[in-house]
Amino acid sequence: MANFQAVKVTEKVWWVGAIDWHLREFHGYRTSRGTTYNAFLVLDDKVTLIDTVKAPFFEEMRERIASVIEPEKIDYIVSNHAEMDHSGSLAMAMQEFKAEKLFCSMQGEKALKAHFHDKLPAMEVVKTGDSIALGKNSLAFVETKMLHWPDSMVSYLTGEKILFSQDAFGMHLAGSERFADEYCDSVLYEEAKKYFANILLLQSGKIIDLLDNLPGLDLDIDIVAPDHGPVWRNGDHGKIIDLYREFAEQKPEKRAVVLFDTMWHSTEAMANAIAEGLIQSGISTELISLHSCDRSEAITRIMGAGVLAVGTPTINNNMYPSLGDMLTYMRGLKPKIAVGGAFGSFGWSGEGAKQVAEALTLMNIEQPAAPLAVKYVPDAGALARCVEFGKVLAEALKNKLES
Ligand code: FEO
Repeated sequence: MANFQAVKVTEKVWWVGAIDWHLREFHGYRTSRGTTYNAFLVLDDKVTLIDTVKAPFFEEMRERIASVIEPEKIDYIVSNHAEMDHSGSLAMAMQEFKAEKLFCSMQGEKALKAHFHDKLPAMEVVKTGDSIALGKNSLAFVETKMLHWPDSMVSYLTGEKILFSQDAFGMHLAGSERFADEYCDSVLYEEAKKYFANILLLQSGKIIDLLDNLPGLDLDIDIVAPDHGPVWRNGDHGKIIDLYREFAEQKPEKRAVVLFDTMWHSTEAMANAIAEGLIQSGISTELISLHSCDRSEAITRIMGAGVLAVGTPTINNNMYPSLGDMLTYMRGLKPKIAVGGAFGSFGWSGEGAKQVAEALTLMNIEQPAAPLAVKYVPDAGALARCVEFGKVLAEALKNKLES
């Protein structure tokens, strides 16, 4: 192997995770900068491993642990989250390290049993308010159900004042640096927003509750150590917590996204004219073609937009397949959009725009105008109607922002 080394977080805590430089797809999310699977080793009377790594990275984690202590000296393993990017190597770790105990939430026990069947020993179930003594420090647990899986929980290490936050406050960002203060703010913002939009958007309400009520956040926290991306130290975690609140609140911005795909450039011409109507009305506007933008980038830009206009050609009596993909993805993530609009060109019967309007309605997105459909190539009159359509969407947003 590569003689992987652990990275010191504090005198008692080491990062022993893995870097997945080449990951470009994470259940539908395009991870253009790869990711890390963070695991942390706590050195105390009871040596404890917090989370593990995706199965193919087990050896990398084992080597990093071995650079600090013999892996067989691990007494406890804590599984904060059962998804396979963090627990994929759990059975191997329990078997090789011969850990005495495995801790997880009640839902975690069910999920891990369903994944590993008889390959894991009996687990010790913990719940919010429980803590385990490790020696000088103890580890307290807070369940964070549906953030973002039923089993999710976070752990707080007293003494070292570290919140091990599993997926929360993370991002998909591979890199040689382990701490947020070693990255530029624009990269952190971009990747945190993309991660939130693609992983956590559906749970925005629960995140606000968590930020308001998580007992751990009232504790004296020096470090937030998520399971992906950089660790927040030196009191820096306020930045990511504030960003999470901003993302979760989804206050409509005076901003529009015109999202479309096109067959023969007619829907594209409509999109341009609608965008022009929005721009002339003073709304900051961005055109996104699904031909050149994947769904995970698109949802990141859509998050927070006050207006979303969606355009599709009609093909074989249906919306274009790329729009079907995008709207299905969006329906799962449920972004809050103040004002929507559907449009598109057609050659035969023109169902596409109506289908988009129905999909927006299913997402509770109000539409101040009926779907705008144009047969074949939009002429000057049709393009003028598109500009007007954009202006109607802009006025509807302004009214909402003022009310
Ligand atoms: Fe990083 Fe929900 O797994």
